[in-house]
Amino acid sequence: MLDGYHILTLTHRDAPLQVLSQAIVPEDAANILPALKDHFEWKELYYLATCNRVMYLFYDANPVGDAFKTDLLEKLHPELSEAQRVSIASRMRLLHGADAIRHLLEVASSMDSLVIGEREIIRQLRTAYDWNHEIGLCGDHIRLLMRYTIETAKLVYSNTAIGEKSLSVVALAFQAMERAGARPDARVLLVGAGETNTLYGRFLCKYGYKNIAVFNRSLENAQILAEKTGGTAFSLDQLADYRAGFDIIVVCTASNTPVITPEIYAGLLQGDTTRKIVVDLSIPHNTDLLVPASFHVQYIEIENLRTQASEHRKQREAACQAAAVLIEERVFAYRDLWHERQVERALSHIPEEVRAVKEKAIHSVFAKDFEALDPAAQATVLKMLDYMEKKCVAIPIKAAKAAALRNKRKDSPAIPEPKQASV
Ligand SMILES: NC(=O)c1ccc[n+]([C@@H]2O[C@H](COP(=O)([O-])OP(=O)(O)OC[C@H]3O[C@@H](n4cnc5c(N)ncnc54)[C@H](OP(=O)(O)O)[C@@H]3O)[C@@H](O)[C@H]2O)c1
Repeated sequence: MLDGYHILTLTHRDAPLQVLSQAIVPEDAANILPALKDHFEWKELYYLATCNRVMYLFYDANPVGDAFKTDLLEKLHPELSEAQRVSIASRMRLLHGADAIRHLLEVASSMDSLVIGEREIIRQLRTAYDWNHEIGLCGDHIRLLMRYTIETAKLVYSNTAIGEKSLSVVALAFQAMERAGARPDARVLLVGAGETNTLYGRFLCKYGYKNIAVFNRSLENAQILAEKTGGTAFSLDQLADYRAGFDIIVVCTASNTPVITPEIYAGLLQGDTTRKIVVDLSIPHNTDLLVPASFHVQYIEIENLRTQASEHRKQREAACQAAAVLIEERVFAYRDLWHERQVERALSHIPEEVRAVKEKAIHSVFAKDFEALDPAAQATVLKMLDYMEKKCVAIPIKAAKAAALRNKRKDSPAIPEPKQASV
């Protein structure tokens, strides 16, 4: 049943972005997520965390109520009080069946993003799928849905104006940095060398920033980004001892704990009291909140880019409406695809069984008669049997697909769930 799909999510629409960090999986996700899946007896799981949202997509044929939300938060963040868990859980949305599928398609098409039209979400969805699959969380239900989701996002981008003159969180942050008075001769520390800072680095180069130092956990990736930006590479460990001064820090890593602590920041300043700019696009933030609170800093984070993002959203309203119509059609069509896939899986043993009957006929039941034939007659018999095999395999599959299509509008499970997911 499509009703087996569920999404539990917390997004920029539901809460301030800082709250998102209390619903994400802390470090060691590769061990925590399989344990969660087992604990809740979900058949499949897909986890996504971006700067806009945290999402748990899971497949469970049983009805799922709200009660598990606080249990999940307790497992993820035992340090939260019960009152905090209840408050966060009340903001999390739980969607089922067609509503869950619609939401996923909207996410992939960037309709639910802070910045509409940002294609980066497609890469994030794909990368997350590869990782979830690698650690054994996904099966056939999620594989099918993810493939359909990416196809849908591409359709939306090519059939609507949603991605025209596209913006990104990084572009908005860069504009905010320039508005804050950044100049191309500024000394910039890029802390982190992932996708986001690489994109930020491109903007820095494009607008003539030349004095760049890149710090990263692995020196190798720092070197790659330094090469692209004409900067100097350092390992993250060297940040605390860096004494060449700075005007701007752009920090963005996947660390769950602050990278720019007050101690490190004070060391970097070396008593400099002029105003600095700190851009932090990480969720959870990589800058300890004591830094903007205690020092002379213009602090730019995703939360304060909302105003520009909503201006951009207003200009995309017509495109969003067109995308919503397309997505509704795709949600409806997914039922057919899903039912057909269940038929294929339930009957996947048929070709092998028919082939076995053929082999038995030739080598056992009619072995003597077959051997008595001359080679030309044997070839004709084999040709006929091959033909019969192909046709016999197709008949039950075709009939079952037709029956499933007749039943699907009622969403009744005419075909039993196969025992094993074939990924
Ligand atoms: N992608 C986007 O469009 C986007 C936009 C805005 C904000 N963000 C946010 O930006 C953050 C990073 O995203 P991304 O897409 O750039 O990630 P990414 O491409 O996966 O890169 C992760 C970066 O974080 C570093 N890192 C990972 N774990 C770390 C740890 N424990 N301590 C220190 N450094 C660590 C990695 O270092 P190594 O090179 O050593 O692995 C790498 O530089 C996330 O919080 C994300 O939500 C992303």
